[in-house]
Amino acid sequence: MKIIIINGPNLNLLGKREKNIYGDLTFEEFFQTLKEKYPQVELSHFQSNVEGELINKIQEVGFSYEGIILNAAAYTHTSVGIGDAVKAIETPVVEVHISNTFAREEFRHHSHISAGARGVILGFGLQSYELALQSFLK
Ligand code: DQA
Repeated sequence: MKIIIINGPNLNLLGKREKNIYGDLTFEEFFQTLKEKYPQVELSHFQSNVEGELINKIQEVGFSYEGIILNAAAYTHTSVGIGDAVKAIETPVVEVHISNTFAREEFRHHSHISAGARGVILGFGLQSYELALQSFLK
């Protein structure tokens, strides 16, 4: 089973960035433990700070992979293009967020991704990604 985690802008700074919100683990450290825990999954990871690169990756994997775990980060709240890409593909997308976006600023309450997603998991820290992964294993 091929599943990809796609991370949007600034998530390359996990472990350094606003640690009180996002924790002190780097994504690479977390991703390594996730891969070891789920050896039956062909798990890959892509991160970009560039909106179009995220859209290109969604299109590239979106007709052949079994699942996409997408944290579009700030583009969640702004990108009609990423929202449209999620609706255009066949692979189911689970939207994730590390923080509880509803407990934060108003502008984080709206998502362009959710309407096209199979489901949304947020607020559980990095565990949000693992819960999304488990949803594909059922
Ligand atoms: C985030 C929440 C977004 O509002 C924010 O812009 C991010 C990360 C999260 O995982 O909690 O960069 O998607």
